[in-house]
Amino acid sequence: MAFLQGLDSHIVVVGCGISGIGAAQKLLQHGFHNVRVLEATGRSGGRVKTGHLGSNIVEIGANWIHGPSQENPVFRLACQYGLLDKESMTEENQAIDVAGHPPFTATWLSSSGRQLEPELTEPVSMLYMTLLEQSQVFYRQGREPMPSVGEFIKREIRLALSDGRGNPVTAVLKRGVVNTLLKAECCVSGTHTMDDVALGAFGMYKTLPGLDCTFPGGYEGLIHQMMQTLPKGMVSYNKPIRCIHWNNSDGSAHHSGRTFPVLVECEDGDTFPADHVIITVSLGYLKKHHETLFRPRLPAQKAESIQRMGFGTNNKIFVELEQPFWEPDCEIIFLLWEDESTLADMVTDVKTLWVKKLFGFTVLRPAERYGHILCGWIAGRESEHMETLSEAEVKLTITQLIQKFTGNPTITPKRIVRSQWFHDPYTCGSYTYVARGCSGHDIDTLAQPLPSEGPQAKSLQVLFAGEATNKSFYSTVHGALEAGCREAQRLVTHYTPPAYQGPLGSKL
Ligand SMILES: Cc1cc2nc3c(=O)[nH]c(=O)nc-3n(C[C@H](O)[C@H](O)[C@H](O)COP(=O)(O)OP(=O)(O)OC[C@H]3O[C@@H](n4cnc5c(N)ncnc54)[C@H](O)[C@@H]3O)c2cc1C
Ligand SMILES: *[C@@H]1O[C@H](CO)[C@@H](O)[C@H](O)[C@H]1NC(C)=O
Ligand SMILES: *[C@@H]1O[C@H](CO)[C@@H](O)[C@H](O)[C@H]1NC(C)=O
Repeated sequence: MAFLQGLDSHIVVVGCGISGIGAAQKLLQHGFHNVRVLEATGRSGGRVKTGHLGSNIVEIGANWIHGPSQENPVFRLACQYGLLDKESMTEENQAIDVAGHPPFTATWLSSSGRQLEPELTEPVSMLYMTLLEQSQVFYRQGREPMPSVGEFIKREIRLALSDGRGNPVTAVLKRGVVNTLLKAECCVSGTHTMDDVALGAFGMYKTLPGLDCTFPGGYEGLIHQMMQTLPKGMVSYNKPIRCIHWNNSDGSAHHSGRTFPVLVECEDGDTFPADHVIITVSLGYLKKHHETLFRPRLPAQKAESIQRMGFGTNNKIFVELEQPFWEPDCEIIFLLWEDESTLADMVTDVKTLWVKKLFGFTVLRPAERYGHILCGWIAGRESEHMETLSEAEVKLTITQLIQKFTGNPTITPKRIVRSQWFHDPYTCGSYTYVARGCSGHDIDTLAQPLPSEGPQAKSLQVLFAGEATNKSFYSTVHGALEAGCREAQRLVTHYTPPAYQGPLGSKL
């Protein structure tokens, strides 16, 4: 009886990104039938978002399946739906373990318009990679010689490069290589500076085997396939929620002769009574709105973890060219500024120098599919400023940048398209990182359902999913999916009757 009542319970999922879809799907599979998804925007997918550049598709949000192998639920689904090309699904591809750093074939261009020799860039890159790997060991060791990854790497680089023997011009270039690689790491971590990323927690993020792959038809294909499994009408679009009244704080949560502990209030005034709410909004959104999003307010500990944890910006600028200026095998183009004499991954004046934060471009491949498209990457406050400029202004600055670094004043991009995740009102940035001073404990606190204490009948009113709540896989699509499924499973377990323990059972 209790189990049947459980399946009748009213569950509201806030957000129709991959985490919300995963949660709804799992609840339905287990027989819950009063499930409703409320989505602020007019589309499903959230930060999985495929766009266009001319006749090509480009990923405005997530691009890769990180670690495409059997342990990765996104990979399993993508295979099941037949969304990947054959090569990505081979046993060999799944077995390649690059610890999160695909061995891209790189070209280095400098601000004086020349290509740098691998003899200069490779030893510094290798030293940098070694230090990045070392940054991950402190998590297991449970100690932190410095508070941030950036400070640790810069200290070690200074020690390694200050032997005084080298030529001073080369020394500036070597520091420039490190600066560019730090700016690239800001994109990977989604942070303004690596000085904000906690050293002691850097190794908490887990990588899975498999050489990162993309969706030839676009990442959103996965969303569309998953949406097919949800009944029509289950998702309400353009339905931003304003407030979650929990702990029966709004006595008016009556509906069909029942009272509910939670009332979800939308911006348009509509209300939805619920037994449970699974909230999947981004950490950026929570940071900005948690004080008004919950009545009563969140417990102090949770609010503090939300404030302390990191949620930064990483944006892409896609650039289409008539002709490639790179070699056919080139996968990534790094840009090195010869005038940067100190080790730093931030610019001194965001408004005038923002483009110096753009570390370089990845090449969209294969060329037969995309033509000649580069993807520029830019993180941090420089990236947030870029979002405020018009597309024409960004195009002009990128044109000047490419002309400067190639030394060819005739190269003019055909068109560009960029992402603007910071100013997206329902995302407020790109993804989560563990900020200086934070640890896995903050993620656990964030993931704790409410109320955390009190009678069983009143528990699990508000559950927290989304990318930011997975300790090993925050900042990824698979982490978000897993977190949604985890919270759905929490409700399934909550209502599953304990196994029959009758007299016979105990004797056998
Ligand atoms: C530029 C970029 C590149 C990335 N690249 C990769 C990659 O290559 N590989 C990878 O694995 N991951 C990548 N990620 C991360 C990945 O996209 C996210 O971790 C994942 O998609 C998050 O899913 P989610 O469901 O947790 O959140 P979201 O997708 O953000 O979904 C939350 C949903 O909640 C909705 N919402 C917000 N507020 C409200 C409200 N008040 N009421 C109702 N609904 C609301 C939002 O509109 C949104 O649809 C990238 C992200 C970005 C931004
Ligand atoms: C929830 O309600 C109970 C009384 O019904 C109250 O004692 C408790 O403090 C409330 N919790 C919060 C977080 O407001
Ligand atoms: C995070 O995701 C992984 C798999 O994607 C899963 O094994 C793990 O249990 C998840 N952790 C949490 C805390 O949700």
